[in-house]
Amino acid sequence: MKLSYIEKEVKIKTNIHEQYRHLIVQLQEHNYITYQHSIRVGNLLSLLGLRLGFSLKKTETLYIIGILHDIGKIHVPNRILNKSGKLTLNEWNELQLHPEYGIKLLKNIPLPSEVLSAIAAHHENLDGSGYPSGLTGDDIPYFAKMTRVVDSYDAMTYSRPYRKEGMSDEHAIIELKRGIGTFYEKEILDGFCEIIKENGKTT
Ligand SMILES: [Fe+2]
Repeated sequence: MKLSYIEKEVKIKTNIHEQYRHLIVQLQEHNYITYQHSIRVGNLLSLLGLRLGFSLKKTETLYIIGILHDIGKIHVPNRILNKSGKLTLNEWNELQLHPEYGIKLLKNIPLPSEVLSAIAAHHENLDGSGYPSGLTGDDIPYFAKMTRVVDSYDAMTYSRPYRKEGMSDEHAIIELKRGIGTFYEKEILDGFCEIIKENGKTT
């Protein structure tokens, strides 16, 4: 059942899924919450791409980035991914390796060029406070900046091991807007907020 669901989700959106479907299955088997999060981020990134005027081809690329952005968490132990309390410094350092793990898993798979650069930088912040490289401003690829916004929204609004109840959309938008210029790019966040106000949560 689960496999056919994945096949349906992935087949609809892209015609090059064959090369990485096995990784999505691995992620689903390793950590189902991260798998579900990734599918939602892919869906929302596609909507955001269309809203910001990207072509269908680029929008398809954004979907791929969404479903693969956390694929490196396959190599992060569940005792860290599912921990309900505060992470230790060592655990936090290990979690922060997931963009790098993702690049290693994907580097031999033919994917649009923007995919790896966006995955590598999806936790970078405009002000340089992100990871793994502390990139700033325009050194962060645009698709990574888009992923940062959508990823944060989904993390805020869905329950996580460390927080039972997700925030409302209204509350999440307030929180996201506080991060304009430090974490998030205004143009991207404005487009994204319009989508959320129109559609609410997608599944
Ligand atoms: Fe991530």
